[in-house]
Amino acid sequence: MKMQNKNPRIEGLSPTEIQEINAEMSHYEDKTAVSIEALKIVQKHRGWVSDDCLVAVAGFLDMAPAQLEGIATFYNLIYRRPVGKTVIHYCNSVTCWMMGSEQIREHLCRRLNVALGEMSEDGEYTILPIVCLGACDHAPVAMVGDELKLDLTENAVNEFLGR
Ligand code: FES
Repeated sequence: MKMQNKNPRIEGLSPTEIQEINAEMSHYEDKTAVSIEALKIVQKHRGWVSDDCLVAVAGFLDMAPAQLEGIATFYNLIYRRPVGKTVIHYCNSVTCWMMGSEQIREHLCRRLNVALGEMSEDGEYTILPIVCLGACDHAPVAMVGDELKLDLTENAVNEFLGR
């Protein structure tokens, strides 16, 4: 039997978010199977997932907020704090480290005047650490928005920042 939430009036979620989460739920018997997708939907519309939104999604999926929080924390592409328009996921795993990623990351942080995890003052960028992006043969590597940047150098950083 396919699940569909019968109550569209869930406080804290927009009608569009509810509609999109319901569409995901229609593929599964168990509502909790869409917990990551539901968080991604909220994040797509709001840029990040606040505590209030997390509680609303948990209620919608009949889950305990703490259970959903555990999932959100484990999945590092769900942002639990406001982030910049573009998130730079900077690989901090061993091959990139061996290939000089730290020096380039410092350059990147300096150019944006932020520390790892912070949002730039203009709200354009946030740099977050991430484990191996699976392109070790092109280390150092970062994901800038949806774009994988390979063989990073300080010049390449300047180029993609355009500043
Ligand atoms: S260690 Fe950085 S991409 Fe694999």
